[in-house]
Amino acid sequence: MMWLMHQSSNSPKLLLVGPNFFVILVILFLLPFQIHHLTHTLEYLMPLDFFLPCKLLKCHQKAIKCINHPFRPECICDYGYQGDGYWFCDECGLTSQTQNLRIVGGVEAVPNSWPSAALVVFSYKNLAYISSLGVYVSIDQAYSCGAVLIDRNTLLTAAHCIQESVRFTYNGNSYVTEVTTSSNYPTIESMYKVYLGVHDRTRMNQPPAVQLSVKKVYRHESYDETSKLNDIGIIKLSKEAELNQYIQISCLPNPNTSFYPSEVNIKSFAIGWGTLNYGDLTGSDVLQNVDLTIYDGSRCKDVSIYDNDWNSQICAGNYSGGKDTCQGDSGGSLFVLDKVNQKYRFITAGIVSYGQECAKPGLPGIYTRVSYYGEWIQSNKWKYN
Ligand SMILES: *[C@@H]1O[C@H](CO)[C@@H](O)[C@H](O)[C@H]1NC(C)=O
Ligand SMILES: *[C@@H]1O[C@H](CO)[C@@H](O)[C@H](O)[C@H]1NC(C)=O
Repeated sequence: MMWLMHQSSNSPKLLLVGPNFFVILVILFLLPFQIHHLTHTLEYLMPLDFFLPCKLLKCHQKAIKCINHPFRPECICDYGYQGDGYWFCDECGLTSQTQNLRIVGGVEAVPNSWPSAALVVFSYKNLAYISSLGVYVSIDQAYSCGAVLIDRNTLLTAAHCIQESVRFTYNGNSYVTEVTTSSNYPTIESMYKVYLGVHDRTRMNQPPAVQLSVKKVYRHESYDETSKLNDIGIIKLSKEAELNQYIQISCLPNPNTSFYPSEVNIKSFAIGWGTLNYGDLTGSDVLQNVDLTIYDGSRCKDVSIYDNDWNSQICAGNYSGGKDTCQGDSGGSLFVLDKVNQKYRFITAGIVSYGQECAKPGLPGIYTRVSYYGEWIQSNKWKYN
């Protein structure tokens, strides 16, 4: 009870959502009867991060532990299962289509054989003011990126896919304008659309593809546009995606390790709808996949003039050239096939970040090392549930 008192006297949040206090009292009176069921029916009355401490909360049967944070408990799914730990702990890495793993160069993926792949479209329409000329220019642009579904309402992408500014040209000159809301897009989130279950982008508005709106976009607070370090971001969906044979969640590296994969010269797979050649103006209509080798960081020394941090980045590609990710693949997943609870699954080991042109000999690509951000992902995906 001290706990409850503490909450009610210190949390401004409790004042804002007044009815919650009443709800909690009701729940306490009904203990120990069916808390799980009761809270389920109350889902519409209060947010999921309600104020029950772990000992009163019945986590999902696939959850292994519960952590009491200030003002909220957190149920953690067992490794190989991902979700909020309360309503959902879904098995990761399921596929109904077998991947074509004998890839030579980038090839079209077997349709829907990477069911955690997402396409993210950022649309921007606004007036930009060029102060040196004293003119307003109308901007209407869209960018696409990849992302990977890691639980029913969370995707990982690259931080640079969550744009805070856009470039445009006017009378042959290049300008940058800050992304701001307008009547076209009244919130930042309304500028994003997420598509799941897509193979062919020309059919992304028809089943089995689904379009989902976005509740929150969040880029790593230490993302550095110059060095491109910490190039990771989270997209929270407005509602949970329905998992089916076309849409599934990807596995993540074992939370026990912050350096995954630990070996080099192993095979990995990158996917995306990005361009097939550097400089192309449009990406591929169909999802492509390519096999890449994970290299020691020294192999990427010529890629960037800025220092890399191989604890938080991965160097991967084909040193002889011809295989790489390219523009438009950003934010997509670099997968490694590995055992998750004794079963082979594809694990999202990296996120497509940047490169020096594409597929040139001696210039592999740079990927964000997902395992380095295990705790960051876990704590931030919760914030916006
Ligand atoms: C993580 O490490 C702990 C302690 O060594 C172990 O009990 C647990 O099973 C490991 N978790 C996974 C998912 O491997
Ligand atoms: C590079 O690609 C070629 C052509 O597919 C392949 O034979 C070779 O094994 C690849 N090398 C590495 C290191 O991935």
